[in-house]
Amino acid sequence: MALFSLNINGKSHQVDVAPDTPILWVLRDHLNLVGTKYGCGIAQCGACTIHLNGMATRACQLQVSMVGDAQITTIEGLSEQGDHPVQQAWLEEDVPQCGYCQTGQIMTAVSLLNNNPNPTDEEIENGMSGNLCRCGTYSRIKKAIKRAANA
Ligand code: FES
Ligand code: FES
Repeated sequence: MALFSLNINGKSHQVDVAPDTPILWVLRDHLNLVGTKYGCGIAQCGACTIHLNGMATRACQLQVSMVGDAQITTIEGLSEQGDHPVQQAWLEEDVPQCGYCQTGQIMTAVSLLNNNPNPTDEEIENGMSGNLCRCGTYSRIKKAIKRAANA
């Protein structure tokens, strides 16, 4: 075990965990930030997507010892009231079905739009291609991203 100081959603958190603990489990099991989901655990589905210094990153493959003083943002930190423009667009397009993948989809979409505020269809498809949805909500995801881009 070792003590790590992490900057998450603008606050400092101390955790005492094994250095190879994935951030996903630090968030969920130690800090009760359970909006970030476990899907595959092997960087294949995107359910666990968070931001590391604003970049979409898979929390299941990011060991706590690799984070240093980088800024972590989770779905809980996107906005205080859950009303980030991308979250609002998601509601307006009624995107989720079971909902399980949607945290990862939203975190990837926010990162995509931060880097490219007006993406083409192809850029959206490429940018979102690593986030899987077993319910097949892809067309609504694309509509919501376009809505957020035009907001
Ligand atoms: S749980 Fe991390 S990519 Fe699937
Ligand atoms: S909404 Fe069910 S997996 Fe995407």
